[in-house]
Parts: sequence; C-alpha cells; structure tokens
Amino acid sequence: MSAPRPNPAPPKRLHIRTYGCQMNAYDSERMAESLAPLGFVSVPRPEDADLVLVNTCHIREKATEKLYSELGRLRQIRAAKRQNGDGDMRIGVAGCVAQAEGEELLARTPGVDLLVGPQEYHRLPAMMRRLLQGETREPLTALNFPTQEKFRAWPPRPTRPQETRASAFLSIQEGCDKFCAFCVVPYTRGKEFSRPAAHIEAEARRLIASGVKDITLLGQNVNAWHGEGVDGKTWRLGRLLNHLAGLDGVERLRYATSHPRDMDAELMDAHRDNDKLMPYLHLPIQSGSDTILKAMNRGHTAADYLRLVERVRAVRPDIAMSSDFIVGFPGESETDFQATLDLIGAVGFARAYSFAYSPRPGTPAADAKSQVPEEEKRRRLARLQELLREQQLAFNHAQEGKRVQVLFERRGRFPGQLVGRSPWNQAVHADADDSWLGRAATVAVRKAHENSLEGVLDNPPSEARPT
Ligand code: SAH
Ligand code: SF4
Ligand code: F3S
Repeated sequence: MSAPRPNPAPPKRLHIRTYGCQMNAYDSERMAESLAPLGFVSVPRPEDADLVLVNTCHIREKATEKLYSELGRLRQIRAAKRQNGDGDMRIGVAGCVAQAEGEELLARTPGVDLLVGPQEYHRLPAMMRRLLQGETREPLTALNFPTQEKFRAWPPRPTRPQETRASAFLSIQEGCDKFCAFCVVPYTRGKEFSRPAAHIEAEARRLIASGVKDITLLGQNVNAWHGEGVDGKTWRLGRLLNHLAGLDGVERLRYATSHPRDMDAELMDAHRDNDKLMPYLHLPIQSGSDTILKAMNRGHTAADYLRLVERVRAVRPDIAMSSDFIVGFPGESETDFQATLDLIGAVGFARAYSFAYSPRPGTPAADAKSQVPEEEKRRRLARLQELLREQQLAFNHAQEGKRVQVLFERRGRFPGQLVGRSPWNQAVHADADDSWLGRAATVAVRKAHENSLEGVLDNPPSEARPT
C-alpha cells in the first residue's frame, strides 16, 4: 500500500500591475513564469492575491507618482483583508522606480515587503521563498546590475499552445550607454548589453510552439544590438532579423525602440529584402531643432534623421514612420519648437508619442537654468499633438477601400468581433468567428478611425475555415 499523498499546497495567487514600456510588459510575463514553479497562479484582481508586484516606470514624474498612489491603495486592500480574516498580502515593487529610489522608497512607504530592480528578477523566486517561509520580517532588496543573469536564470518560455497568443515580445537588448540629457534609463536599467543570437533563437522557437506568429524584438536601443551570432561571429540586428525570419512559423517580425545613430546599412537592407519584417519603424527623434538635439546629447541632427527616413522609404516605400517627441526641453524657444513642427510636416508620421519635458532627478537637464514654464509646455504639447493626430488620421484614412492582411490576436468588445493588427501596426476590427484567432486573414477596410480600422473579412470561400 502506498502512503497517503500529502495534500498539495494551495496555489498562491499573484497579481502583477505593470506600468511603463514594453520591456516592463515582457519582464512582468517572465516574472510570472518564474514564480509558477513555486505554485503561483495569476489572478486579475489585487484583492484576491497573496502577492502583488508593482512593476514600475520612472521615465517621467507622473509615471513615478502612480506607484505611490497604487501603494496607498494596496495597503488599504491589505488592511481590509487582514481585518476580515481573508488572509494576508505581500507587496513587492519591481522595475525602474525600485531601482532609482531604492531604500528611500522603503523609508517613505512602510509596508513594502520586497524591492527588486530590473536586472535582478532572477532572484525573485528565492526571495519569495524566504518571505513565504517567514524567514524575515525585514523587507528584501535586490538592486544590483549583474549583466544577463536574469535571462540565463529564467525558466524557458512555456510552449503550451494558447489560442489568443498570436504576438509576443522578446527582449534581446537591455540598458543604455547613450545618456540623453533628459533620460533616467541608463541609471535604472544599467549598461547596454545584448543577448546571444542562439538564446534569442531558442526563445523565439518556444514562442512559436505556443502559437506566436508575430514577434517584436525589444531593447531600449534595440538596433544597437550586437550579439554573438550562431556562427560565433558578432552579428548586428539586420542579420539577426534575417536569421529569425528563416524559422518555420514566424510570419511577422518587428523591433522597438531604435535610435537614429544605430540605423546601419544591414538593417536598411533587411527592410528591403526581409518580407517578414513589417513596414513599421519606430524611430524617436525627440526634437526637430539642432540646438535642442545637441543639448539633449542625441548625437545626430534633424537632417541626419530626414536622410534616414528618405533612405528607408527608398527601399520600403510603404513604411509607416513613428517617433517620440519631447516638448519644452530646457532652452527650447518658439523657433526650436517650430522646427519640430516643420520636421513633423516634412516626415508625415503614421503614429507618434509625445510628452512634456519632465525634469528627472540625477539627469543633467534637470539642473538647467532655462526650464520652460509648465503652461508653455502644455500649450506646445497641445499644438504638436493636434498636428500628429491629423497625420495619424490621414494615414489611417489612406487605408479605406484597401485590402490588408490582418493577424487576429484577440476577441473584440462585441460578440463575434475579433481584433488584429495590420502590417503597419494598426488595430483592425472585423466580424469573424473564433477559428480566426491567431490566424492572418485579408480584411477589406471600410472605415478608419484615429486609433483603429474597421473592415470585413474578404477571403475566398476556400480560406474561410482552417482545414
Ligand atoms: N530608448 C528610447 C526611448 C526610451 S524612453 C530612445 O532613445 O528613443 C521613451 C520616451 O520617453 C523617449 O523617447 C522620450 O520621448 C520620453 N522621455 C524620456 N525621458 C523623458 C523626460 N524626462 N521627460 C519627458 N519625456 C521623456
Ligand atoms: Fe534614454 Fe537616450 Fe538611452 Fe533612449 S537613447 S534610453 S532616450 S538615454
Ligand atoms: Fe519606464 Fe524603465 Fe521602461 S523608466 S520606460 S519602465 S525602461
């Protein structure tokens, strides 16, 4: 007779709240995967969780403030749980605010059990084990920069097929050595490093096995990626993209975020020759004024940028351009601002992200005397966003009446509706049954909105159902 099996430990419930960029979205997924062997399952509400992790962003003051209001809310939820006898909750802070504010954060906000910086996520399972075993009452911290260790220590991506997982992020590069005068990233993510191609390929293969067809390679400066190739030589991003395009099952490749200084000829050639590489390029310029670009330490001029746009459009005429802009950087005059509007007029962006300059502690620009008044920043931002909105609408309108390939990723808000993405990264809604989830279809675009397109499936009957 076999001994009675002990009751399995009850699952521990995890809720991760993610702020910030796509790299944080990727890290959150991987943290959840790394905690799964400890019995953690993800739950949608913090009220139901035994562990809440807040994955934070430090890029602008507003982003950082969100953490503190979130922590206040979580402490209330925890107090209510304890009072009602609903168990307890551990609160952890991950990400760029954890890294930047470190111990100060603990001093300012009691009740945080764990602090973990972006390069130490591999230590999370061991830290959780210590917390759960009640080994310590002190908050645990991990805030060092051991290059690449998290990628080596994380368990491989799950290959279990998931029907609503047509696209995924894959981080290939982290950190930044460029030190733009406004930016905290070099301090929060550490020095630039690139993962080897073989590791990236292995991860891509597992994503494909789980049903992923559209992979976005991520990095703070993704086109600065220069890693060990599978032939032992140093590769750059163009070569890596071509290699990944050769994997069975990859339908679409993208990359973000790139820097104008790292757009090399090989990457341009990939835009010409690699038909899996989608015609969308997010290439932030921040400002159209050379004076401001210099003060920002960007290392390129507005003319350099326009030349790059011209080159990429020459090889890929339908490419959708996207950018980030900062208005009201210290010293920005009306003339400088006008130069940004002119550059936008000259390029014609399909999409863009724009921000009022936010002085960040520890960055050189924060101490500049010539700060632009908040009200002026707001006025400029409104003017800039109006122009960008018009361009985005015009870009979307140009698709009306056309047939586009849409990879369906998830169910829409209305029954019978699916949402997917066009090659140019537009969200596209169409009526389609669930058999289309995770598959590409031709959609005739009927109507364009500012942030999405609407259309109808337009496939010959033989394509109507998977075989
Ligand atoms: N590595 C990317 C950008 C990362 S941060 C690049 O070099 O372009 C994302 C965006 O946030 C930046 O492109 C910039 O537009 C904006 N940003 C960064 N720091 C900022 C600050 N202090 N104030 C306002 N916007 C900022
Ligand atoms: Fe920040 Fe500049 Fe590095 Fe981009 S390139 S992450 S803006 S320092
Ligand atoms: Fe924010 Fe850190 Fe990303 S500061 S933008 S979460 S790299």
